[in-house]
Amino acid sequence: METGKSFFTLSSWFVIVAFLVVGLSGETCNAKCTSSCGNIPNISYPFRLKDDPKHCGDLLFTLSCENNRILLDLSPSGKYYVQAINYNNRTIRVVDPGIQKNNCSSIPLYPLAVFSQIQNMGPNSQYYLSISSMPVTFLKCASPVNSPLYVDTAPCLNMSSSSQQKTHGYVMIGWTNASDFAIGCTVEWTTAMPYSYEHQLHNASYEYIHNSLLYGFDVRYFLDWCTSGWRVADYYCFHHTISGM
Ligand SMILES: *[C@@H]1O[C@H](CO)[C@@H](O)[C@H](O)[C@H]1NC(C)=O
Ligand SMILES: *[C@@H]1O[C@H](CO)[C@@H](O)[C@H](O)[C@H]1NC(C)=O
Ligand SMILES: *[C@@H]1O[C@H](CO)[C@@H](O)[C@H](O)[C@H]1NC(C)=O
Ligand SMILES: *[C@@H]1O[C@H](CO)[C@@H](O)[C@H](O)[C@H]1NC(C)=O
Ligand SMILES: *[C@@H]1O[C@H](CO)[C@@H](O)[C@H](O)[C@H]1NC(C)=O
Ligand SMILES: *[C@@H]1O[C@H](CO)[C@@H](O)[C@H](O)[C@H]1NC(C)=O
Repeated sequence: METGKSFFTLSSWFVIVAFLVVGLSGETCNAKCTSSCGNIPNISYPFRLKDDPKHCGDLLFTLSCENNRILLDLSPSGKYYVQAINYNNRTIRVVDPGIQKNNCSSIPLYPLAVFSQIQNMGPNSQYYLSISSMPVTFLKCASPVNSPLYVDTAPCLNMSSSSQQKTHGYVMIGWTNASDFAIGCTVEWTTAMPYSYEHQLHNASYEYIHNSLLYGFDVRYFLDWCTSGWRVADYYCFHHTISGM
């Protein structure tokens, strides 16, 4: 009964494989993976952590957990700390890792890149600066500027270069255009803060603005990022905008 025995082994092996396939596909359909890292106990779809099983969340929305802090990679700007994820209005509040509490001399580590009028955070990125956030522009000026648009960073930030020439540091809040820039001023870097602070900004001190940088700013994420194109594999979108199509 040699053949019968091997047939039995083969068929039971087949049953085991079939069971595994059913089990795994069942798991794939069940996207209810919840991970936790640091201040956020429930990271769930579409987000996943780098070391989570592949079927958890969406590979496009992979976050990393380093030193018990969650990081969102907003390339090409940099990796920002995640303070909160709001699944209802699809926003993530992030803070620049360079901003330290109770130290208004601490500055953003990354210059925030915002592309085009739609405020895309990177070329072909699924993240956008939320309408609840506005830019903060750091400027270095050759002479003092007396304008309500400019907030002096003086006690906190020392914009003086190593040369003897004295320069003056300012921040400008909100969307700006070329006419807002005083002569002799250059943009040092840009970050963002919540729009809700704006109504209190008349006469705001730089310390106050620094505090709002510590709170962070909202970034929107788009799940249906590729609906205007075709999503290929996990990372690429092809858009219909190719001429002649
Ligand atoms: C995540 O956890 C926080 C705190 O435990 C809770 O307030 C929030 O409702 C949870 N969110 C989701 C989507 O489960
Ligand atoms: C999303 O919801 C959070 C929490 O309710 C809120 O703080 C944030 O301002 C909202 N963002 C937008 C863009 O509505
Ligand atoms: C405050 O931040 C500045 C700039 O990052 C740094 O040089 C300084 O050491 C910090 N001060 C304290 C007390 O941490
Ligand atoms: C600012 O820089 C100048 C010249 O480099 C230096 O003398 C001064 O102590 C600095 N002030 C602060 C607050 O760091
Ligand atoms: C630039 O902004 C000022 C107010 O900040 C506004 O009056 C002006 O119309 C704007 N100019 C352009 C070209 O958008
Ligand atoms: C700004 O501060 C000055 C002097 O402290 C004060 O006279 C003025 O009313 C303030 N303006 C606003 C809008 O708070």
